[in-house]
Amino acid sequence: MDTPNLTRNRPMKIGVIGLGHVGLPTSAALAHWGHKVVGTDTDLEKITTLNEGRLPFFEPQLAELVHRGLTEGNLTITEDVNEVVAGADVVFLCVGTPPKDDGDADLRALEQSTRTVAAHATGHVVVVCKSTVPAGTCDNIARTLSRFNGGLTFDVVSNPEFMREGSAVEDSLKPSRIVVGVATESAASAMRDVYRKAIEAGTPFMQTDIRSAELAKHASNAFLATKISYANALARICEAIGADVTAVVDIMGGDPRIGRSFLDAGLGYGGFCFPKDLACFEQVAAKAGYDFGLLREVAAINAEAIDTVVEHVKEAVWNLDGKRIALLGLSFKPGTSDIRSSPSIALANRLLEQGADIIGYDPAAATNVRTNTRLTVVDDAYEALKDAHCVIIGTDWPQFIDFDWNVIHDRMAHPVVVDARNLLDASMMVAAGFTYIPVGKR
Ligand code: UDX
Repeated sequence: MDTPNLTRNRPMKIGVIGLGHVGLPTSAALAHWGHKVVGTDTDLEKITTLNEGRLPFFEPQLAELVHRGLTEGNLTITEDVNEVVAGADVVFLCVGTPPKDDGDADLRALEQSTRTVAAHATGHVVVVCKSTVPAGTCDNIARTLSRFNGGLTFDVVSNPEFMREGSAVEDSLKPSRIVVGVATESAASAMRDVYRKAIEAGTPFMQTDIRSAELAKHASNAFLATKISYANALARICEAIGADVTAVVDIMGGDPRIGRSFLDAGLGYGGFCFPKDLACFEQVAAKAGYDFGLLREVAAINAEAIDTVVEHVKEAVWNLDGKRIALLGLSFKPGTSDIRSSPSIALANRLLEQGADIIGYDPAAATNVRTNTRLTVVDDAYEALKDAHCVIIGTDWPQFIDFDWNVIHDRMAHPVVVDARNLLDASMMVAAGFTYIPVGKR
């Protein structure tokens, strides 16, 4: 860990390329800290949407932070890449690195944005890679910069983010740690200036070499996914021998060496990051000559979590054909409208294939689901539950706890709840007359 040496106290001109779930909160946070931030994206509709004061996706508190940046003048969003790069002290690359069919990361957008920086830079630029990338990618960024603009010098920095969807604003303004992988002290010093406000507020600043920083992101996400799969494997054993997985992980979590977070068994992990990062990390390891079989097992256990819930539903309703099933929660986790790799949607598709009639409800993701899937989604949860033979909790939105389960009991054809996220209180559900089927408990 490096002791910060805060020498400069001036706002910087910062460009941000890519205004998605990472780039937009990053831009808004940097503007909030007083920097002059200019962001861009290849999706021109996104730029129009943002400049009209709307967000292209749901993220709590982000609209306010973006609005403040735009109205106070610290944040500009433009399609003019020259305005983003020319004169910038620092340019953040926050473009997507989606998975290819073999699990490797598709880095074409990153190469394109690197060339954009090279083409429009007017002086020395610190180029910061915030996109999640295989270790070694920053070397390619550096090579591309010098190949396409040999006249200028650049510093390349790896600055992985650890922000979660649903709490991206809080994670940006108050990160658990700031990780910078650098090759020069001057680049480290520039990054301290970028994050000066957060460092002064007590955020640890962790300086290391570039490859270690790149690797740390994959290592972190893969480890968190491993914790979840460990809990889901435990859930299978608990069901078989009559133990309670929540009691077991609560006891495990009481040991500070283990920690209680990311040990909730259920339908498994989803989202844009964990599945692709795990696959990519396995590729990184394979290319380095290490067979990271543990990660394959983590992914296999995650897939089995859905199989198990399908079995629970079948046990509850017998044949799926012709059964009306209400699915509460469609996003990959609560607090977001994101349905990418959503376990709940994967479950819905499995049940649909077997003839069930699925009626979905989600507090935030309904529009997204209607646009991107063929699932039936209703805007009123009670409508989904009416005459249902079974209700499944697919995402642990806390508001489901406060539903009037006595009313729901009377409206359903059969009062059966398959709680795939262990969200509800078992004794209350049983007292209300439900057949209640959680995960990892007999
Ligand atoms: C993750 C990382 O946490 C974040 O640091 C990184 O920058 C991006 O990827 P995110 O994808 O937003 O963030 O979701 P996260 O809150 O980590 O949850 C991932 C998935 O794991 C969700 O589907 C969630 O429902 C599931 N999960 C989480 C469990 O099944 N059990 C748990 O105990 C915790």
